[in-house]
Amino acid sequence: MKDAVKKKFMELYGGAEPDVFFAPGRVNLIGEHTDYNGGHVFPCALTIGTYAAARRNEDGVLRFYSMNFEKLGVIEVDAAALVYDKKDNWSNYPKGVIDVLRKHGYAVEGGMDFVYSGNIPNSSGLSSSASIEVLTAFIVKTLYGLELNFIEISKLCQEAENKFIGVNCGIMDQFAIAMGRKNHAIFLDTATLEYEYAPIDLGDCKIVIACSNKKRGLGDSKYNERRSECESALASLQTVLNIRALGELTEEEFEANRAVIADPVKERRAKHAVYENRRTVRAVEALKAGDLKLFGELMNASHVSLRDDYEVTGIELDTLVETSWEQEGVIGSRMTGAGFGGCTVSIVKEDKIDAFIRNVGETYKNKIGYAADFYVVEIGNGPVVL
Ligand code: GLA
Repeated sequence: MKDAVKKKFMELYGGAEPDVFFAPGRVNLIGEHTDYNGGHVFPCALTIGTYAAARRNEDGVLRFYSMNFEKLGVIEVDAAALVYDKKDNWSNYPKGVIDVLRKHGYAVEGGMDFVYSGNIPNSSGLSSSASIEVLTAFIVKTLYGLELNFIEISKLCQEAENKFIGVNCGIMDQFAIAMGRKNHAIFLDTATLEYEYAPIDLGDCKIVIACSNKKRGLGDSKYNERRSECESALASLQTVLNIRALGELTEEEFEANRAVIADPVKERRAKHAVYENRRTVRAVEALKAGDLKLFGELMNASHVSLRDDYEVTGIELDTLVETSWEQEGVIGSRMTGAGFGGCTVSIVKEDKIDAFIRNVGETYKNKIGYAADFYVVEIGNGPVVL
């Protein structure tokens, strides 16, 4: 990958050799749709991710090229006037990051040339976009010598996604990518940004990702809709409780007060947010106690809640997960990421992985009409200069 992006860069732009950088993708093990509700998440960075070659230029333009979208060619924009433009496609992500850095007073002057290439499947829910964002911030920090730590980077990238792209995402993806650590997941309290690295020792098991290949489409608007449903449920609860976020509630406190949420749909959304947060805390405790079985059961319960109360799964993800539950050697399985398509994450005994992929793959194809893709993944580090 490193050589391929460098070669493409030299072909397109010539001149001095560029530096090459990498940022991972992420998978969330448990704690879904809790990060914008002041709850806990438990994601990890992957060894797959996004590579980019980059160099400053004196032309006052930003040039973006992606080896994943070769047909789009080099997307060239005026470095002094960064606005969201649909026709700039994926390059709105790096543009957004550069814009936000400037708005925060970082002197990112002049232009830059970039070539990106990623091995995270697109629209998979493994955060290819957050990977591009964090990678871009890391590149700009390096090329301009900016004083920026990885937590600041994750916050700025979230802001770019919220304000420039218009998706009201939480901090999880950007944080997991910027702060990734090999063989560890990150137990993050999104209310305070306090975090802890938890070693992931799965013994004779591995993490298997199944990508539904369902494109998300309306996903982003549905995402914002879920977020506002939670905000509205919170506002109702705040008429009787002194809380700032749903993540502050225990299940008991929620049960005692849920009746004030007049709308049954919003009530279910809030229930998910509260219960999923508590499940995440319990799952990390289980893992620390070496109880992988309980961890898996909590993953399964997370999926049920996302399916029935939060309603972000759909037939593709449900088929993958429900078929996974029936397979031998599966410790736990659930959808991961925003939902509405994308991927599932399963913990599977290593010697059962081949049968798992065969069986789940076959059932999925028969029922859905097209194939799923499977990846046995490893937990990797955050951004690096290669
Ligand atoms: C997306 C968002 C995250 C998080 C998840 C759902 O990945 O970017 O902030 O809300 O969905 O858990």
